[in-house]
Amino acid sequence: MCGIVGYVGGQSALDVVVAGLKRLEYRGYDSAGVAVLADGGLAAAKKSGKLVHLEKELAERPLAAGSVGIGHTRWATHGGPTDANAHPHLDNAGRVAVVHNGIIENFAALREELAERGHELLSETDTEVVAHLLAEEFSSVGDLAEAMRLVCRRLDGAFTLVAVHADQPDVVVGARRNSPLVVGVGEGENFLASDVSAFIAHTRSAIELGQDQVVELTREGVVVTDFEGAPADVRAFHVDWDASAAEKGGYDHFMLKEIVEQPKAVADTLLGRIDASGRLTLDEVRIPDAVLREADKVVIVACGTAFHAGLIAKYAIEHWTRIPCEVELASEFRYRDPILGQRTLVVAISQSGETMDTLMALRHAREQGAKVLAVCNTNGSTIPRESDAVLYTHAGPEVAVASTKAFLTQLVACYLLALYLGQVRGTKWGDEIRAVVRELARSGEEVERVLETMEPVRALARSLAHKDTILFLGRHVGYPVALEGALKLKELAYMHAEGFAAGELKHGPIALIEEDLPVVVVVPSPKGRSVLHDKIVSNIQEIRARGARTIVIAEEGDDAVVPFADHLVRVPATPTLLQPLVSTVPLQVFACELATARGNEVDQPRNLAKSVTVE
Ligand code: M6R
Repeated sequence: MCGIVGYVGGQSALDVVVAGLKRLEYRGYDSAGVAVLADGGLAAAKKSGKLVHLEKELAERPLAAGSVGIGHTRWATHGGPTDANAHPHLDNAGRVAVVHNGIIENFAALREELAERGHELLSETDTEVVAHLLAEEFSSVGDLAEAMRLVCRRLDGAFTLVAVHADQPDVVVGARRNSPLVVGVGEGENFLASDVSAFIAHTRSAIELGQDQVVELTREGVVVTDFEGAPADVRAFHVDWDASAAEKGGYDHFMLKEIVEQPKAVADTLLGRIDASGRLTLDEVRIPDAVLREADKVVIVACGTAFHAGLIAKYAIEHWTRIPCEVELASEFRYRDPILGQRTLVVAISQSGETMDTLMALRHAREQGAKVLAVCNTNGSTIPRESDAVLYTHAGPEVAVASTKAFLTQLVACYLLALYLGQVRGTKWGDEIRAVVRELARSGEEVERVLETMEPVRALARSLAHKDTILFLGRHVGYPVALEGALKLKELAYMHAEGFAAGELKHGPIALIEEDLPVVVVVPSPKGRSVLHDKIVSNIQEIRARGARTIVIAEEGDDAVVPFADHLVRVPATPTLLQPLVSTVPLQVFACELATARGNEVDQPRNLAKSVTVE
C-alpha cells in the first residue's frame, strides 16, 4: 500500500525523501511523487509508474533545493495510476502539498462542498480534498498543525496524512487514523514514514504514533497532540535492526534473501523464551495466567499467509491444550457476528501489524470483551499496540511482498503460544514441553538442510514455467502448507494454483486431473500417524492413475512414496505438527524460481501490496 516519507533537517530533503521512498517500494505502488519547500515556495513532481520514472523527471526538470520535504508512493484506490492522481496533491494556489495513505470515505461530499466555494479539483482522488481544506483552514489559523487538526475532525475513513505549507517553511505535519505512521528522531533532523525502513539509514530512534494523533516536526523537535490539540501520550522505541537488514545483500531478490534468512529468523524467534529449566517464559504475554486458564475458546484471525499460519496453529493448540480453536479470515470475521466473550482468547497474526482487516477484527473482538494477543513482526505497528498482549516474531524486516520468513516465525510463535497455554493450563507436562522445544530448536538447522538441497526444485520449477495450472494437496498440517504453496505460486507466477485437502479430492477436484498436470503433494510423517500417511499415498496413486505428474514432498526415509513420485523432494524427519517448518520451504523456492523463469517481478508482484492498509 502507499508509502509516505516526510523530512525536516539539514540534508537535501529530496535526497532523503527519494531514498526513503526506495526503501518503501516493497509495499507495492503504481505512481510516486515528491514536494519540497524552497525559496519561499513549494516545488513538486509526480509521475505514474515506478520511482525510476520520477527520478527521470527530476533529472530533466530539477526541483529547487530545500531541506523540508515529503514524498509518496501510491497504490491506486480512487482513480487510476495517472500522473494527475499521483501524490502530492496541492491546493489551487500551490502553497500546500499533502500525501495520503488510506481512504477518505466522505470525500465526495467534501469535494462538492469545495467546488461550491470555487475550488478547482484536478484529480479523481479522495486525497485532493485535504489539500484544499488545509489551505482554507491555514488561511484562518496560520498554523499547519492546527489546520490539520481541524481538517482531520471532518474526515471519515482511514488516513495517514503528511503535509507541508510554503508559509510555514520549517515544519512538516502528519496525522494518523487507522493507517501507519512512525516518527524517526534524529540529531537536528526528524522523519515521518509509513514504516521505519524509510529512515533506518539515518536513525534507529523512533516514536509510534497512536490513533487520532497529529504530529508536528521541526528540526528541533516533535510535538504530538490528539485531534483536539491536547498533548498526546506516545511510545518511543529503538529499532533493533540496521539498514543492512533491509538491503538485498547480493541476492537477486529480497524474497531469495528472506528465504535464506529463515534458519536465523526461526532461531531468533525462539531466543530468550525458554529458561534454563526448559520452562517457557513468554514475558510479553501480559494476559494473566488466570485468564489464560479460564479461556474456553481460541479464535485466530489473520489474512493470506498469516491465515495459513493460523490454520496450522489450530492443530497445535487443540492437540496440546484441548481448547477448541477456530481460525477465521479477518476480512470475514466481524461481518458474521461472531460469538465472543470474556473467556475467548483472540490471536491476531500479522507480519506488518497494519493489515486493516485484521485490525478491524481485533477491535471487534475487544469490543465484545475478548482478550486479544497479537503475533506480529513489526514493532511500533498498530495491531500489537491495540492488543492486550503481543508475541513478537523476530524475522527482521520482510521486504518482498510474498511472505516467507515471517510465515515460519509465525509458526514458531504459535507453537510457543500453544505450548505456553499447555504449560499454564497443565495440559502438557514439563518434559513434554521440553521435548517439543528441543525439536523446535533443531528446526532452524533442518530448514538450513532443506535450503542446501534446493537445486533440483529450482530446475523442476524452470521446467514447469510454461504450465497453466499446478495443484497442491495435503492432509492435516500439510493441508495449510498446500494452501500456502498455491498462494505463493498465484501471487508470484500469476498461475492458476489451488490447494486442496487430499481427502476432498474425490468430492470434486479430481475432475481437474488430466495428462501431465503437475500436482504437488505434501506427505505427512510416516511415523506415528501411519493412517494419515497411508491415505495420502493412496491419494497419490489415484491422481497418478489419471495422468497427473506427481511432485512429492516427503520425509527422508519415507520409502513408501518412492514408486509413485515423478519428482521427489526430501525434507528432514520432524514431529508431525512441526513438519510445516520444513515442508513449506521447497514450495517457497519453487514459486520464486518459477516466477523468475516467467520473467515476473519477484519482489513486487503485479497488483499486490506488502501491507494491505485498506479493507
Ligand atoms: O502483514 P500481514 O501478515 O497481516 O499480511 C497478511 C497478508 O496480506 C500477507 O500474508 C499476504 O498474503 C502475503 N503477500 C502472502 O505472501
